[in-house]
Amino acid sequence: MRRILLSLVLLMLPALAMAQSVNVSVNVDTSKPGAEISRHIYGQFVEHLGRGIYEGIWVGENSKIPNIRGYRSDVVAALKNIKVPVMRWPGGCFADLYDWRDGIGPRAKRPVRVNVHWGGVTEDNSFGTHEFLNLAELVGAEAYVSINVGTLTPYDASQWLEYMTSDSKSSLANERRRNGRAKPWNVKFVGIGNETWGCGGNMRPEYAADIQRRYATFANTPRDMGTLKIASGSHDDNYEFAEVMMKNGGRFDGLSVHYYTVPRVFRDKGAATGFPEAEWASTLDHARHVETIVTKTAEIMDKYDPARKIGLYFDEWGTWYDQGPGSTPGFLYQQNTLRDAEVAALHLNIFHRHTDRVKMANIAQMINVLQAMILTDKEKMVLTPTYHVFEMYVPFQGATPYPASVSGGGYKNGDTSLPSVDVSAARGKDGKLYLSLVNLDPNRPAHVVTNLSGTAKGRILTGAAMDTRNTFAAPHAIRPVPFSGSSDNGKLAFDLPAKAVAVVAVE
Ligand code: AHR
Repeated sequence: MRRILLSLVLLMLPALAMAQSVNVSVNVDTSKPGAEISRHIYGQFVEHLGRGIYEGIWVGENSKIPNIRGYRSDVVAALKNIKVPVMRWPGGCFADLYDWRDGIGPRAKRPVRVNVHWGGVTEDNSFGTHEFLNLAELVGAEAYVSINVGTLTPYDASQWLEYMTSDSKSSLANERRRNGRAKPWNVKFVGIGNETWGCGGNMRPEYAADIQRRYATFANTPRDMGTLKIASGSHDDNYEFAEVMMKNGGRFDGLSVHYYTVPRVFRDKGAATGFPEAEWASTLDHARHVETIVTKTAEIMDKYDPARKIGLYFDEWGTWYDQGPGSTPGFLYQQNTLRDAEVAALHLNIFHRHTDRVKMANIAQMINVLQAMILTDKEKMVLTPTYHVFEMYVPFQGATPYPASVSGGGYKNGDTSLPSVDVSAARGKDGKLYLSLVNLDPNRPAHVVTNLSGTAKGRILTGAAMDTRNTFAAPHAIRPVPFSGSSDNGKLAFDLPAKAVAVVAVE
């Protein structure tokens, strides 16, 4: 009998070891409030790519899929629910081959083009300027329009902006009226090109800075609209474009930076699901690298803009995996798992730590493309783990952040060492103190003791497997569930399960 008991205990040992908590301390310094968390860091990127727009959001008025003036009703409701603050459109690489005139007027008469960047499919332009700007209004988001500096002239950019925003009796404003829109739209952000170092024209940084100066001169809206101009900057660890743009790019309000998280390397990225633990760890490690990019870019910006008037706009970020089996080449469709939820939470926490510089971020991309909020399959829709993070983080929009430090614990896999827990703390617009807690360790729970007192209630997102995900067959496999804090010797504490993201309000 004793032998049987002993073998039973031995059998259970790995499980017991896995369940052993890591002890972590969190210190929130409420005496040092930082600059407000711009709600625009919760922005989305929407490109003419794959099923991001067509089917993802735009189905047309005659579709059997329930819609509001052509926009999927289910998707619009889901987007409103996460309070999307800003949408960037039409690209991406697509922007620098896009002629805005293709996308206005009666849809049946719009020209059909080839989308050379994304799968070589035909683009019938049924989603154009009116459809985008009306969508932004419907969702309650600001519009961020990227102008074409690669293949059109500054005159085209100037005309497009006049068409969208002029309240005059000009021919362009009247054309807009004839096309169904009486009032001008509010275009809050204008991107002067996209990735000028790559698909936007393969420019040299000095040439890109001149292009920026020239196009920005003519890319104007009525003065009282307060439109902000965003220069195309650098990417990853290449800082040359940021440096040269800051030095020579003339006047602009924001500097764009792009960074995608891949598990391995860009040419051999790794799979979205069914990955080994080493790729859980490397993906989170690569996601955390965004803090280095923000810090180094901010250092460059500080040299030329010590008063910090120019914002750092992280207008493309997110995970990028190898194309899944059976998916259309060039459509960048990928599944989205608990790992993506952690990547999202880590990015958002990092942006919260740099609010003096980071004024906007746009996850790539909103629907059916890369790290999407929403996946659709004809009439079906699934909210991804990333969506749930954005929804849980809504109280952080416009909140005032506090420094929060973490000590103790640690998670190691092979050569990758990560903290067990990442934390963000902020005072919400409703006056409550919010904490987000991310457990990066896929195996061990964390016992987190804070320097705060009181109680805390909120929700947590976690799952049994690293690639827990929602599918069209099981759309609610992963969603937030209630979570609350406890007390440890009078201090607010949390027992945070392995691989989890929690957001709580402290009372
Ligand atoms: O988001 C996909 C592509 O990634 C964008 O079109 C481009 O800007 C970036 O390289």
